[in-house]
Amino acid sequence: MKSIVILISGRGSNMESLLDAVDSGALPVSVAAVISSRADAQGLTTAAKRGIPTQVVDHRQFPRREDFDAALAEVIDALSPDLVVLAGFMRILSDGFVTRFTGRLINIHPSLLPSFPGLHTHRRALDEGVKVHGCTVHFVTTALDHGPIIVQAAVPVLDDDDETRLAARVLAQEHAIYTQAVRWLADGRLQLVDGRVRLDAPQDGEGLLTAPRIRTGR
Ligand code: GRF
Repeated sequence: MKSIVILISGRGSNMESLLDAVDSGALPVSVAAVISSRADAQGLTTAAKRGIPTQVVDHRQFPRREDFDAALAEVIDALSPDLVVLAGFMRILSDGFVTRFTGRLINIHPSLLPSFPGLHTHRRALDEGVKVHGCTVHFVTTALDHGPIIVQAAVPVLDDDDETRLAARVLAQEHAIYTQAVRWLADGRLQLVDGRVRLDAPQDGEGLLTAPRIRTGR
């Protein structure tokens, strides 16, 4: 069975949905640890309550990004995971870190990349008046929020949406596609080959884009 570490910085709902999938048997991985860049991350408490080992690598203790990344890499390497899962991890990682874990480092981003990289994606989507929004799981590369796309989910943007409502609709899809992507990796069916995503033997109905029916997303 493959082992993963999950990196968080806050609430940890994506982490929690992965842990739920592990507990239910839907996701055949062992979670070696949850690591947070902040000591006050709510997700740390959630993970600890569920008996998952937790560690903090506090970014504020490291004046230079490279030093923080080196400390983080050391903690991860000691656990020798097959996969490093960024789940609401709010630090930009240096090129050295990303290169070291290329092909086994994935992220979830709350927009349909390449639209809206960076922060405040839901507000920006509403400001732009887009009709379709969503989320993306991608391999992490040195280009911020721009790695090879593994899977996306689209949701409608409704006329009376506000940021909170839209974020909740997207988050429900984040939980679904992140579990799906990690399962593909756990099963050894998903790889990064020459910078492109390869999913072996897709089964009926198994897609790299999921789109719930329009107007049912509330
Ligand atoms: C999610 O929307 C994730 O896509 C983004 O930050 C949010 C984190 O939420 N990177 P949570 O900590 O997983 O609840």
